[in-house]
Amino acid sequence: MILYPIKKIRLDFPILSTLMNSYPLAYLDNAATTQKPNIVIDSQSYYYKNECSAAHRSVHSLSSISTNHIETVRTYIAKFINTSIPEEIIFVKGVTDAINFIANSWGRNFINYGDNILISAMEHHANILPWQNLAKEKKIELNYIPLLPDGSLNLSKLSELINRRTKLLSISHISNVLGIINPLTEIIDIVRTKSNARILIDGAQGIAHQKVDVQKLDCDFYVFSGHKIYATYGVGIMYGKYELLNTMDPWVVGGGIVKNVSLTQEPTFVDIPWKFEPGSPDVSGIVALGNAVKYINTIGIKNIYNYENQLISYAINTLKQQNLHLTLYGSDCNKSSIIAFNLKSYDSYDVGMLLNQYGVAIRTGHHCAIPLMNHFQVPGMCRASIAMYTNKDDIDQFIHGLNQIKHLFHA
Ligand SMILES: Cc1ncc(COP(=O)(O)O)c(C=O)c1O
Repeated sequence: MILYPIKKIRLDFPILSTLMNSYPLAYLDNAATTQKPNIVIDSQSYYYKNECSAAHRSVHSLSSISTNHIETVRTYIAKFINTSIPEEIIFVKGVTDAINFIANSWGRNFINYGDNILISAMEHHANILPWQNLAKEKKIELNYIPLLPDGSLNLSKLSELINRRTKLLSISHISNVLGIINPLTEIIDIVRTKSNARILIDGAQGIAHQKVDVQKLDCDFYVFSGHKIYATYGVGIMYGKYELLNTMDPWVVGGGIVKNVSLTQEPTFVDIPWKFEPGSPDVSGIVALGNAVKYINTIGIKNIYNYENQLISYAINTLKQQNLHLTLYGSDCNKSSIIAFNLKSYDSYDVGMLLNQYGVAIRTGHHCAIPLMNHFQVPGMCRASIAMYTNKDDIDQFIHGLNQIKHLFHA
């Protein structure tokens, strides 16, 4: 193992020292949501005890504190993913919100009958359904990059699926089921050569595990949810290239985004990014996101990536050595942070329920990716997913639990 302050990190996450069913908690459901460090948890009560006030609304001191928090975090996130200017960062509720926003604000206006959209067969429903809705409404062709038997993208088909009428490629950075890291640079190169399509990256699973540089990547949109990178629920980020955001109108409208509203004329809106942030913002959630990113930066995203890579290799190699009758999905691909499996033909729910008895929290079912389940012809899978605080003991406890279950089922 590389030198990595795992003991210190674990102490910063209070929930990790709790028990589940009398066992130490082995939390392996990090792809669903991550746990929160003290710096995030404490910032919430500090904000509500000392600073609570509506941002962008009033002239009093408390309100300025809230406004400053939002703009400071915006700048901080802009640096984290290397946008060219902070105005390219829009606060949203999360990935679901962001993709629906892009589909409705940009998609409805810039994709028309005869055009086509490309996504892949491994996407989360949040990156399928908004495009299916749009395709149906505007009679747009929706195509899917097919998968190879191991669950990775069949990139030999990519060129055939792109043409001059392709207006958008929307694809996940890392698969939420298999943990496969999609080769974004290669994909973006192909798309840019063959079309003028816009490129949207669903970063829900990527942002916590890999360094993201949106300028280097040259994507048009990159979206992620705060709760999957150690911040709280309800706040996420939509990055969009400035020139592109400038062509878009608000989708959700209301207070805080207008220059003028009249009873007889069209409204006029404030500038980007504020025109896309209607209503009272979740200031404490934004503060939490800033603190979560600060925390990640103190450890270093590259160190986290290297540490997690070693841990996931250890887990997969150990699992393969056990006589567990596991089917592992996508385990030999270029992957990060996730192990997807089934134990014989046992229902994933049963395996998850039993692992819970041994203090191990995993996710079961279709993982909001039914087309991917259909690809493997299974109704569901078990998914163990790690984070920066997962340690070898968690993995060993998980494997011990699987061995116990195997004996139970054989009894
Ligand atoms: C790849 C991917 N996309 C989108 C989402 C939706 O994210 P949220 O529920 O935070 O909006 C998830 C959540 O699991 C995901 O893993």
